[in-house]
Amino acid sequence: MKAIAILETGEREVMQCLDLPIPPIQSDEILVKNQATGINFVDTYICRGFKGYFPDKFPHILGIEGAGIVSKVGNDVTDFQEGDRLCYVYTGSGSYAEYTAIKAERAILLPNTIDYETACCLLQGITAQFLTHSTFPLQPDNKVLIHAGAGGVGLMIIQMAKILGAMVITTVSTSEKAQLVSDYGADEVIIYTQDDFADEVMAITQGVGVDVIYDSVGANTFEKDLKALANRGYLVLFGQSSGFVPDFDLNRLCNRGNEGGSFFITRPTIKHYIQGNQLRQRARVFFDYILSGKLKILIGQKYQLEDAPQAHQAIASRSTIGKSIFYL
Ligand SMILES: NC(=O)c1ccc[n+]([C@@H]2O[C@H](COP(=O)([O-])OP(=O)(O)OC[C@H]3O[C@@H](n4cnc5c(N)ncnc54)[C@H](OP(=O)(O)O)[C@@H]3O)[C@@H](O)[C@H]2O)c1
Repeated sequence: MKAIAILETGEREVMQCLDLPIPPIQSDEILVKNQATGINFVDTYICRGFKGYFPDKFPHILGIEGAGIVSKVGNDVTDFQEGDRLCYVYTGSGSYAEYTAIKAERAILLPNTIDYETACCLLQGITAQFLTHSTFPLQPDNKVLIHAGAGGVGLMIIQMAKILGAMVITTVSTSEKAQLVSDYGADEVIIYTQDDFADEVMAITQGVGVDVIYDSVGANTFEKDLKALANRGYLVLFGQSSGFVPDFDLNRLCNRGNEGGSFFITRPTIKHYIQGNQLRQRARVFFDYILSGKLKILIGQKYQLEDAPQAHQAIASRSTIGKSIFYL
């Protein structure tokens, strides 16, 4: 089968399009013939071998989510059969490939009306869901700041925050992205390449700050986040698109001079929010939002597998909007 794999970590040039054997399955696994697979920012961390994201073996087929048709089931798998339509996240043999072997517990049967391209937005959808419903469950009177609003996760957080009734402020790099996030429901948009986002947040909130910040940018935004939070505000740091946040003195949560403090910081990761039946519960909420018309999915970029290096280049250079996928 055709697959995009790496034999060593490094910049996107280390990706190779190889002809590899179809992966064997264990008794608790399913072989999926992928129809569309998702490209995620984390794939770039794995390709580059960042600390905490280093592949456990080579060749390593990249990709952690996809959607397709069940081609074969292991002996112990009872809830799926050949021909079923499903999507999946994590615990697989790699989804930048024609076939992926996945643990049955990480598979979700697709509603008839959800197509494969939409289904392979699952990881970003579940991320937005757990951040807004569980990490900091949003209330109607909350004011929220969302960084990278025009990104895959960002657009979904904006929409879920609006569904939950919050007031949404978001940051983007360009005026084109600013128009996009407004179209997806943001109340206030800050073009951070033109204006200081912390100053703008304070102006918008009449000097109070926001109740919660959902920050996937990391190094470049962290310090200013502390200036944009309300007293007892939550900083939900869930990614590091610009690099890891440096070591931090916890005493700084206490105050920032006369202006406020008693902040909370958390660094959630999806793995701890999809254990047991949580994956399927969160997926159901995500699909229900789509099917009821409350959540719009934007697939901004579509690639063939061979174009994986260009796909990673586009993500790293901030030129993408919404979701990036491979179609097979
Ligand atoms: N914790 C979790 O479980 C979890 C799950 C899913 C994703 N994530 C994280 O969420 C983040 C967003 O993922 P995504 O797939 O939806 O990607 P994305 O938001 O579609 O792309 C990243 C966006 O971040 C912004 N950005 C700011 N500084 C950047 C920099 N130095 N390099 C590249 N981009 C920069 C860019 O938007 P502007 O042009 O507007 O600046 C860019 O378009 C990633 O950090 C990812 O690791 C975490």
